[in-house]
Amino acid sequence: MSDLDITNLKEEIAKSLAEVRTKEELEALQIKYLGRKGVLATLTQGLSTLPVEERPSRGRQINALKQSIINLFNEKLQSFKPQEKKVISFVDIGLPATKQELGRLHPLTQLIREICIIFSRLGFVVVEGPEIETEENNFTGLNIPLEHPSRDAFDTFYLKEQKLLLRSHTSPVQIRVMKARRPPLAVVVPGRVYRPDALDAAHSFMFHQIEGFMVDKNIKFSDLKGVLEVFARAVFGKDIKMRFRPHYFPFTEPSAEVDISCIICKGKGCSVCGRKGWLEILGSGMIHPHVFKYVGIDAEKYMGFAFGMGVERIAMLKYGIDDIRLFFENDLRFLRQF
Ligand code: DAH
Repeated sequence: MSDLDITNLKEEIAKSLAEVRTKEELEALQIKYLGRKGVLATLTQGLSTLPVEERPSRGRQINALKQSIINLFNEKLQSFKPQEKKVISFVDIGLPATKQELGRLHPLTQLIREICIIFSRLGFVVVEGPEIETEENNFTGLNIPLEHPSRDAFDTFYLKEQKLLLRSHTSPVQIRVMKARRPPLAVVVPGRVYRPDALDAAHSFMFHQIEGFMVDKNIKFSDLKGVLEVFARAVFGKDIKMRFRPHYFPFTEPSAEVDISCIICKGKGCSVCGRKGWLEILGSGMIHPHVFKYVGIDAEKYMGFAFGMGVERIAMLKYGIDDIRLFFENDLRFLRQF
């Protein structure tokens, strides 16, 4: 076999390979040239017919030829796997994986649920009302007449539609429920309320309240005390003390504001409680006969108590938060702590 034969053979194979379209055709060619009885095998066998001195150099030539043919076949084989190559170039399996972030409920939502669960264990049902209210439900029905000075304190955002407004408290849901259902009633009402207050560390134009009320034939002020004591202990701890301070609300008579012993100084007096040893947590009282009259419940037959608390205030006291704005700024460094 001359050098020319070798070059011809290589060219012949390259040509045939160029025409190959399928893996099957490639395999057939491979058998023809590299198979056990193929062209290369015949050449190798031919070595034994050569004079002994010529065999080593011819053997090396044939081996080199065989290797270059194998390379040609491999190249062709690679051309059958184009997609595989692409995928490898797009996906970098060495990259760190994308982390799945777990969400959680907002601290106020968590606290609202916690408080509603405490009251539902005492037999209260949870009811929600609309944030857009009528003037009647928000004021008149609750014994807050148009000219009453107490109305200034939570005069609110009015809508263009006549006599509709963003509710300034959750108390109007008392009116809605008492108009629609008859006693016995035990209801808690969580929800958003709106007031024309400028934003600062202690005030917000929007915040959350939980209203509660109970109406039946023989509901007494002591029932109010008992229920609120269970609530305060469940939220703030067993050692908490409570006091009822006389106050005025148009929709309750008598009315009281409720304080708990300061959770920071335990009643000794500190900067958080303003040296008083007490922290105000809610307003409450016995439902006013005018309210019963407005909703058509016989005030001679039925009695009831009501209370209303600000959820942000409870959360700030419970967790030692000193700025209400933190609840609404969506700063994850704050929110992730709950
Ligand atoms: N609605 C009152 C407010 O927003 C809170 C309140 C006080 C609700 C006494 C009551 C209550 O039900 O009896 O300031």
